[in-house]
Amino acid sequence: MFAVYATHAAPDDPLSSLTVGEMPEPNVPTGSVRVKVTHASLNRHDLFTLQGISGHPEGINFPLILGNDAAGTLDDGTPVVIYPMMGSDDWRGDETMDPAWHIPSEFIHGTFADYVVVPQRNVIPLPSGLSPLHASVLGTAWLTAYRALFTKAQLRPGETVLIQGASGGMSTALIQLGRAAGLEVWATSRHEEGRAIAKRVGAHECFLPNEPLPRKAPAVIDSVGSTTFAHSLSSLARGGTLVVTGGTSGFDVSLNILPIIADQLTITGSIMGTLADMTNMMDLIVNAGITPEIGTVLPMERADEAFRAMWEGTTRGKMVFTR
Ligand SMILES: NC(=O)c1ccc[n+]([C@@H]2O[C@H](COP(=O)([O-])OP(=O)(O)OC[C@H]3O[C@@H](n4cnc5c(N)ncnc54)[C@H](OP(=O)(O)O)[C@@H]3O)[C@@H](O)[C@H]2O)c1
Repeated sequence: MFAVYATHAAPDDPLSSLTVGEMPEPNVPTGSVRVKVTHASLNRHDLFTLQGISGHPEGINFPLILGNDAAGTLDDGTPVVIYPMMGSDDWRGDETMDPAWHIPSEFIHGTFADYVVVPQRNVIPLPSGLSPLHASVLGTAWLTAYRALFTKAQLRPGETVLIQGASGGMSTALIQLGRAAGLEVWATSRHEEGRAIAKRVGAHECFLPNEPLPRKAPAVIDSVGSTTFAHSLSSLARGGTLVVTGGTSGFDVSLNILPIIADQLTITGSIMGTLADMTNMMDLIVNAGITPEIGTVLPMERADEAFRAMWEGTTRGKMVFTR
């Protein structure tokens, strides 16, 4: 079948591992289902896979089909979206706490192919009011954004949130979800175009990275990492929460712990979300009439163009591949 896959770990030149070609059709074990992919979205995780970066000690078994997220149809024609967090069959409760959790394109083949096979519980019927195009961006960036805002930062309507980064997939999700939930949304971007996108999708105020803010905020969501972490911490109001969701510019930071003590700050990581987070988020999107921002739609055969944009940092919203 057609597939977009990684051939080897290429830490410094990830695009050299990217291959658009053919892979064998997957078997469907008992308890799993086959999804015919119609739409699949790109995440920075796909670059990490090409680079051989894995949060799991087992590492990556190449060649591996890329892609965490997709929408498509089951063999009986039912339209579905994939909930990407998988784990042990006997795990109950918060899926993000399962020691064996993983997402497609880590241990199993991912979604950038004609078909992807996932456990039955990982497919959610598509609600009316949500197109497969828009559903295909929800599983990773949007799910993480939802959990960061509402479960981790526990933001309430009227509160202010600072979002580091503006034009990327997760940043636009954070802005749209935050705005729909009645938050005052601030975002930073390195460029004028990013700040314009942020305003268009719902940010109230935009700033340059590391620019002083008019006042401190009760919560900051930071997926940028090294280059923004100090600003994120210093932007927190007393008792505030910094939710760290990514390290696009690097994972190493230096830390002065005095303000954490004096201002009783909370720093927490957040990873993906639960199945309940995913369905609740889908309800919010449908009920609030949110149209997830999509920057680029390309046939999957042209996946390399989107990978290059993400590697070169010229991403504008989510990028979706169609089949
Ligand atoms: N915790 C989780 O479960 C989870 C889930 C999904 C993603 N992530 C992580 O979250 C991060 C963002 O993912 P994404 O899919 O939204 O990526 P993306 O679409 O490529 O967006 C990157 C974002 O980072 C900002 N940025 C700031 N400095 C940057 C730099 N030096 N290079 C590139 N971008 C820079 C960009 O904003 P401007 O261009 O506007 O400045 C943009 O908003 C990644 O590190 C990813 O691994 C984590």
